[in-house]
Amino acid sequence: MLAVIGGSGLSQLASLEVTERKAVATPYGEPSGPLSFGRLDGHALVFFARHGYGHTIAPHEVNYCANLWALKAAGVDAVVSIASVGGIRRDLTPGALVLPHQIIDYTWGRRATFFEGTGVPVIHVDFTEPYSAALRARLLRAAAGCGEDLIDGGVYAATQGPRLETAAEIDRLERDGADMVGMTGMPEAALARELELEYAALAVVANHAAGRGDSAHAVSLERIEAVLGATMARVRDIVARLAAA
Ligand code: HPA
Repeated sequence: MLAVIGGSGLSQLASLEVTERKAVATPYGEPSGPLSFGRLDGHALVFFARHGYGHTIAPHEVNYCANLWALKAAGVDAVVSIASVGGIRRDLTPGALVLPHQIIDYTWGRRATFFEGTGVPVIHVDFTEPYSAALRARLLRAAAGCGEDLIDGGVYAATQGPRLETAAEIDRLERDGADMVGMTGMPEAALARELELEYAALAVVANHAAGRGDSAHAVSLERIEAVLGATMARVRDIVARLAAA
């Protein structure tokens, strides 16, 4: 079963017919909210709002362990994360849709593994390719089927937030090889791997990253909202096509 984790600007999936909302208790505490089981254009999927349905949970306060555990416990095997990002690479301009292929973790202080605590054996997972190749391929096909240009590949830098970055921090991320920056990509991707969930991120470029393009002197939060509002119908169509495939 496919799950979609909606991020900023997508705490609901337009025209999702919800058949059941299910609160799942986990050994890791409370997830961000209930899981919404439903149908999109007639095809089953589970929708989940990463920041809560009222968008009240900040990126560093999201209980990523509980969220992913709840999805796994509900029978989900593939997760598409919708993630808004700032564009660093020149072609990643506001409104672009990108399928990252790599990630660098700059977050701190977030619980980033299920394998901790007394009596829990230490397990190392391979994370060379952080995103599922099969799910990425399905997303590319779904986007092509909708006539949407989904840019294939890019390095996602996961920052702590909730503040946006300084221009010098973006310069550093670029020197590190990052193409886009967001706040929720980690530890979500790593936890999905630990649970053997297929995982891919569909990134929506909401703004030029700090110091770039029209964010040369400031990032406009109003513009971010406007871009996300204008882009989410396209994301929804790709998700619907994916659920149908
Ligand atoms: N930085 C970090 N996260 C973001 C940004 C950004 O510029 N835009 C949307 N999410």
